[in-house]
Amino acid sequence: MISRSNFLLNQNLTFLNHGSFGACPIEIFEDYQNWQRQLEYDPVQFITQKGPKLMKESREALARFINAEANDLVFVPNPTFAINILRDSLHLQPGDEILTTDLEYGAMDRTWKHYCLENQTTYVRQKINLPIQSKEAFLEDFWKGYSNKTKVVFISEITSSTALKLPVKEICQEARKKGLLIIVDGAHSPGHIAINMAELDADFYTGACHKWMLTPKGSSFLWAKKDKQHLLEPLVVSWGYEAAFPGESTFIDHHEFNGTRDFSAYLTLPKAIAFLEKNDWKQQAKRCTETLLQQADRFCELLHTQLLAPKSEAFFGQILSFPIKTANPFQLKEVLYSDFKIEIPIMPHGDQIYLRISCAWYTTEKEFEHLYQSLKQIIEEEKYSGLLVV
Ligand SMILES: Cc1ncc(COP(=O)(O)O)c(C=O)c1O
Repeated sequence: MISRSNFLLNQNLTFLNHGSFGACPIEIFEDYQNWQRQLEYDPVQFITQKGPKLMKESREALARFINAEANDLVFVPNPTFAINILRDSLHLQPGDEILTTDLEYGAMDRTWKHYCLENQTTYVRQKINLPIQSKEAFLEDFWKGYSNKTKVVFISEITSSTALKLPVKEICQEARKKGLLIIVDGAHSPGHIAINMAELDADFYTGACHKWMLTPKGSSFLWAKKDKQHLLEPLVVSWGYEAAFPGESTFIDHHEFNGTRDFSAYLTLPKAIAFLEKNDWKQQAKRCTETLLQQADRFCELLHTQLLAPKSEAFFGQILSFPIKTANPFQLKEVLYSDFKIEIPIMPHGDQIYLRISCAWYTTEKEFEHLYQSLKQIIEEEKYSGLLVV
């Protein structure tokens, strides 16, 4: 049974924010450090000879995990890097539109806004009515943003501040019919929900491995459909461009040679995947989702709020967000950490503020109870007046 003792996390904290940056089990972290030691022991051989072979093994392991071909994915440090590759690669015409939702991650919104400003194109953040009533209602809302100028669809598979699973498969199907380029932000998906790249008809997909796949920070990937790979410009031009030593795939040469660096985090993928499979990650994800959904009603009652979608696994996974009212979200977060030793995100998004609970494999009932009692105290005690309003 996996518990907090399998992780390096501070044991004195109630840690309810796996969603932001993940947490790495000790045995995976040791694998990471082992690769770093090998690198330092014989740097030239490791970086030029052994490393590329190990990177290929990692790519192959990840490809099996997401049902993709190994040469269709490249490792990148994080999804921001992946989306910035795309930002440098799209050649839209002035007036063209990128259709997205108003639920996307702030760094991605900024990246696309930057692109649109430079290229006289428009980033259409289509309003999604919350709470979402049904999958059909979501799709209806989303496609209201479509026009004959839409050329690209960009969408999260699981949103950040609102923590909602979106019906990305259906979006891909419709976008394909409309002849649009499809970019999926799957930052929260790997190791959280099953990914099947062969079935999901996207053009580009990025996922973080350091969240729910439990690898060390700075390990993510960009997958690209074979016939779209040539569109992608390397964000960092190095020896892989007009490759001095061409590998099996120009796509990999262009995007994985980033100059001298420590690529040890990527090399933990085979161990991390073995760890996920040994511990039946799908069953763990299901258990965590069920636990969160069981907790949902009492937190809604306490906070006088409601869920952002029907209470079902179709919309929720291992993260769950509650709209809250607070005079000062940053202070609320700070108080939860300093006075109650709880790490949990309080996230402003649009005109709303969300408290998001993560349930990871190691999360205990006791931690939920501590959060509940702490929020109750903040609501009731004079000294916290205004911090959580119900
Ligand atoms: C929806 C979403 N996209 C992308 C990211 C990736 O951010 P970063 O590139 O900073 O790891 C996150 C991080 O939490 C996210 O929630």
